[in-house]
Amino acid sequence: MSASPAVIASLRSSNSFRVTAAAGAEAWAPAADRPTLPADEVHVWRATLDPGDARVSRLETTLEPRERERAARFRFRRDRQRYIAARGALREILGRYLDAPPKRLRFQYGPQGKPRLASEPPSGIRFNLAHSDALAVYAFTRGREIGIDVERVRPDVAGEGIERRFFSVAEAEDVTGTPEDSRAEAFFGCWTSKEAYVKARGDGLSLALDAFTVSTRAGEKLRLIYAAEAGETARWAFERFSPAAGYVGALAVEGDGWRARFWEHRIP
Ligand SMILES: CC(C)(COP(=O)(O)OP(=O)(O)OC[C@H]1O[C@@H](n2cnc3c(N)ncnc32)[C@H](O)[C@@H]1OP(=O)(O)O)[C@@H](O)C(=O)NCCC(=O)NCCS
Repeated sequence: MSASPAVIASLRSSNSFRVTAAAGAEAWAPAADRPTLPADEVHVWRATLDPGDARVSRLETTLEPRERERAARFRFRRDRQRYIAARGALREILGRYLDAPPKRLRFQYGPQGKPRLASEPPSGIRFNLAHSDALAVYAFTRGREIGIDVERVRPDVAGEGIERRFFSVAEAEDVTGTPEDSRAEAFFGCWTSKEAYVKARGDGLSLALDAFTVSTRAGEKLRLIYAAEAGETARWAFERFSPAAGYVGALAVEGDGWRARFWEHRIP
C-alpha cells in the first residue's frame, strides 16, 4: 500500500498535494463542509503546513494563548509557521465536525502531553495528529482512543543500526532481513506503527519502544503481536496508509469493526 522507497519527496509548497499513483490507494478526497463521523469510521485528513504567509497569519488568530506561547518559542521561522499551520488546520477540521468556530475550541492535555478536546465527553470526538516536514496528518474517531504517525522515508536514516536501538529484537530482525531496496520503507513502516501505538495510549516516550512488538513483515496484517500488559494485543487494531509519495503513515485505533476514510483539508 505504501510508496516505493525509490519515490522520495514530491511535496509541493502549495496548498494541496499532487497525489500520484505511487502515493497509494487512498483517495484523499475533499470532504463535506460539515462531515459526519459515525462510530465505525476513522477519518484521516492531511494538510500542507506551508500554505503561505497570509493563511498562516489568519490561522494564528484562531490559536489560544498556550499555543501562541509555544509558537513563539520556536527558534526558526519555518518551524513556527508550520506549528501554527498544524494547530490552525486542526482547529478548522474539528470546527467542521463540531459546527463550531475554530477559535472557540479548547484543548486539555494528558499527563504525557496528548491533546484532547476540553468538551470531549459531549461530542465523543477523539483525535491525534502528526507532522513530518510540510505534511500534517490528523485522525478522528468517536469514542475510541486513536494514535497516528507519519514519516518521510529517508533511506539515509534506515540501515544505520537504529532499529536495534529503538525496536524489539523481533522487529529489528524483520527490518534487517528485508531486501535492501525496500528496507527503508520497512524501517519507517515499523517506526510509524510503534509511534501510532504509543500515541494512541497517550504514553509518548514514557513507554519503552522495545517493550512491545508490532508485525512488520510485508504482506502481514499490521497488528500488535506482543505487549507486556494483559489485553493489549486484542485492544488495538492498526492500519498503514500512504499520506503522499515518499511518506508512510500508520494508525492505531481502539477496538475493531471500523474502516478508515481519507480526506484532504485545503486551508481556505
Ligand atoms: C511526542 C511524541 C508523542 C511524538 O513525537 P514526534 O514523533 O516528535 O511528533 P509527531 O509528529 O508524531 O506528533 C506530534 C503531535 O503528537 C501529539 N502529542 C504530543 N504528546 C502526545 C502523547 N503523549 N500522546 C499522543 N499524542 C501526543 C501533539 O499533538 C503533537 O503535535 P503538536 O504539539 O504540534 O500539536 C513522542 O512519542 C515522541 O517524542 N516520539 C519520538 C520518539 C522516538 O524516538 N521514536 C522512535 C520511533 S520507534
